[in-house]
Amino acid sequence: MTRTSSTAAVDVPIVVDPALGRLPGQIVDGFRDLVTRGALRPGDRLPSSRRLAAGWNISRGTVLTAWDQLAAEGYLAAAHGSGTVVNPDLSLVHPAPRPHPPAPTGQPSSIAGPAATAGVDLRPGRPGVTGLADASWRQAWRRAAAHPSPSSVPAPGLPALRAEIAAHLRQMRGLVVEPDEIVVTGGARDALAALLQIITVRLGHPPRVAVEDPGYPSLRRVLHRYGAAVVEIPVDDDGLSVTALEELSHPAHLVLVTPSHQYPLGASLPVGRRLRLLDWARRTDALVIEDDYDSELRYVGAPLPALAALDRGPRSPRGERVVTLGSFAKTMTPDLGSGFAVLPATLLPEMVALRSDLGPAPAPIVQRALADYLAAGGLRRHAQRMRREYRRRRSLLSDAFTEVTAVRVLAMDGGLHAVLELVRTADAVSATAVESAVQQQLLAVDVQLGALGDYWASSRPRDRFGWVLGYSGISDDDLRRGLELVRSTVDHVVAQAAPSGPVPL
Ligand SMILES: Cc1ncc(COP(=O)(O)O)c(C=O)c1O
Repeated sequence: MTRTSSTAAVDVPIVVDPALGRLPGQIVDGFRDLVTRGALRPGDRLPSSRRLAAGWNISRGTVLTAWDQLAAEGYLAAAHGSGTVVNPDLSLVHPAPRPHPPAPTGQPSSIAGPAATAGVDLRPGRPGVTGLADASWRQAWRRAAAHPSPSSVPAPGLPALRAEIAAHLRQMRGLVVEPDEIVVTGGARDALAALLQIITVRLGHPPRVAVEDPGYPSLRRVLHRYGAAVVEIPVDDDGLSVTALEELSHPAHLVLVTPSHQYPLGASLPVGRRLRLLDWARRTDALVIEDDYDSELRYVGAPLPALAALDRGPRSPRGERVVTLGSFAKTMTPDLGSGFAVLPATLLPEMVALRSDLGPAPAPIVQRALADYLAAGGLRRHAQRMRREYRRRRSLLSDAFTEVTAVRVLAMDGGLHAVLELVRTADAVSATAVESAVQQQLLAVDVQLGALGDYWASSRPRDRFGWVLGYSGISDDDLRRGLELVRSTVDHVVAQAAPSGPVPL
């Protein structure tokens, strides 16, 4: 039997008017309409006929006549105990129409659309959550829920959680920080929004922010929302071009960078560039925002230390130029809406004041559960499991395209996605056409994937084309099926687009 959120009776908002004809017929039509629109659901408990009759100002006998008809049509059933409910097995009697497939989204999204169960969702950004809800996860949530607190957490976050994050950063990111340098946030976007508010107040106007191009669209949208002047800096096989940053005629106040693995192309910023980046920040009095989004999931070679580790030394043990943003969205699940920022001393007081004015994020009960889970070693175990799993899936993906000469798989050292790049493209126009034709043809067979073009700022011409494939949030079978469809579609579209072919693009 379908469960309802409560056993209280629902409203039956039907307009009943003697001037409009037979009353039982109006009730029956109105009831069917409420069910079709989903306002009434299987299992919903209905008010008594006496109460409905009084509300509609009609006789109880009229309501019972309508009820008889609806019961005969399969809409109503007797409730356990007493009363009447919307038939819990209604879908067997009146099947709902099939949902439409999701419309194409230009942007990667972290949630699969309604048709994703039938199709294959290879869009990036969805972590595998199998095994996450282990015994320590469940215990952490039970404990957090069992002891509601009468007081809120301190503005920078629950002390126990900040201590666990400091331990996590030391063990997994080679970054030694004190818990009081950490502010708990509602994820990377939330942290960036807070930083922008602080810097805007300081400058008296929104800052100029340099970003990687291609880069992560969601964080770029935060910059636009807060009125920042966004300057796109090209990315090459080693990540952000520090030379282009140094050559800006108006230096940026902030630079947003993914040094560990560039998003989405995957390069790791070499030490030489890291040092030049920090030097540039010191000379121009700028801040570097290090988006350290899923570095724990590196599975080839040793993880590189966070950029912030280079910003610290005997002369500046607390760091001066780098803000590190961390998120639990990919290492665990976006359900947590949680992350953290490691801040230089110059920013901490303002960040704490802002958090104190706006209130805690994420909710204190989430902070308590997270602290408990981290203390039990849950994240370390989960990350280890995920690393093994993702390494295997990454090979699956590379193997799927070894014979396809038109593309290369960019070797990612970690993470949850891979880039399939078109090689030997004739020109930008035909490569863009191939990129979008593959995406459209796959959509027609219910396979969704990201196009590389979605990660570029529209204002800059680009010279790289292809697709971004997430391989984590789906079953092995779906992944294999999806990869096979991508492979055959790329083969087909590229062959059609070849100069000697019929060129239908
Ligand atoms: C490049 C990048 N940065 C940051 C994040 C995390 O953002 P948030 O914590 O706001 O969900 C993600 C998550 O998908 C990401 O892909």
